[in-house]
Amino acid sequence: MSIQFHVQRNPNPLSQAQREAVLKNPVFGQYRTDHQVVCVWEKDKGWISAEVIPYGPIQMDPAAAVLHYGQEVFEGIKAYRWADGSIWTFRPHENARRLQLSARRLALPEVPEELFVESLRQLIAVDAAWVPEPAEEKTLYIRPFEIAAEDFLGVRAAQRVEYRVIASPVGPYFSGGIKPIAIWIALQSARAGRYGTGEAKTGGNYASSLLAQTEGNDNGCSQVMFLDAQTGTCIEELGGMNLFFVFKDGRVATPMLDGTILRGITRKSLIELMQDRGIEVQERKISLDEVRAGIASGAITESFACGTAAVITPIGQFKSFSETLSLPASGSEPLSLSLREELTAIQYGRAEDRHGWMHRLG
Ligand code: PLP
Ligand code: COI
Repeated sequence: MSIQFHVQRNPNPLSQAQREAVLKNPVFGQYRTDHQVVCVWEKDKGWISAEVIPYGPIQMDPAAAVLHYGQEVFEGIKAYRWADGSIWTFRPHENARRLQLSARRLALPEVPEELFVESLRQLIAVDAAWVPEPAEEKTLYIRPFEIAAEDFLGVRAAQRVEYRVIASPVGPYFSGGIKPIAIWIALQSARAGRYGTGEAKTGGNYASSLLAQTEGNDNGCSQVMFLDAQTGTCIEELGGMNLFFVFKDGRVATPMLDGTILRGITRKSLIELMQDRGIEVQERKISLDEVRAGIASGAITESFACGTAAVITPIGQFKSFSETLSLPASGSEPLSLSLREELTAIQYGRAEDRHGWMHRLG
């Protein structure tokens, strides 16, 4: 590592009793740890500093470019505590490379892979006590992000950028646990267009999903499903997850990566786990009409959402103002649940890591 981290410990961390109270029921997204990472990049100088500092607000000029033009990218990755107390993360080099892909699209500097992985290690070194015990799907959700911190109101790629990492102890993403969720079909709202930023993990994609997400929430759905912007006929992904369809004949299909969909690491891993089982997984265009017909005829037996936050969550219904497509109540051994068990067993160190996906952080 060419860049050395400077560590400034939080003089006022939460007490052990306060922390333990949080870790009893870590509602997704609600809590933070005691520290954060901040690395600074300047044009012509590159990455000039790397620090671990107490968690707290960012001091930023109101003219900082990120606040006006949304020049921002982020990642989501979890730390898992194993039964022996050690702390691990899942495929961090994949997240590092995706952050670089996102950064290129948003004209932000690339965080070197080794700096990305080291930043996770540094945060865990001071906040290890925040990684929950391995029960009830508890983990430490880590959020690395890059922001255009330069104060300049002209529109151009920022010349001063911050890379930060914060962390949040979490339980399941959906409060109802692993019950099938209802999905709202976004018929009048697109998330990503051709040559747009759909493949990048950038705030704007999420901001543009919120109107449809809110409409979905108001209609009893917990996620929104976007169709391709060009024809409005093919399924792309959910607001914060990829999705799969399981066919009666054993095949599985997921929308192909065509530049408008996030290259989900859970998606990629599930494809590999299914292929290990000899399941044929197709990455292809899937139209809403095919899903409508498949559910009506019984050809589609199951659908599930996947992502770091959601892990794998079965889908019970797809809904819009004009229709409700209901999947059959899952049989005795739905694929989604057996994949969920297999994946989480690897992540929590209960099963052999035959692909070498796990990376020790502490
Ligand atoms: N699609 C979107 C829009 C997401 O926000 C996420 C979450 O990160 C995913 C898919 C799933 O990606 P991953 O499995 O890498 O978390
Ligand atoms: C993740 O799964 O890491 C995400 O960023 C998605 C979001 C719904 C929390």
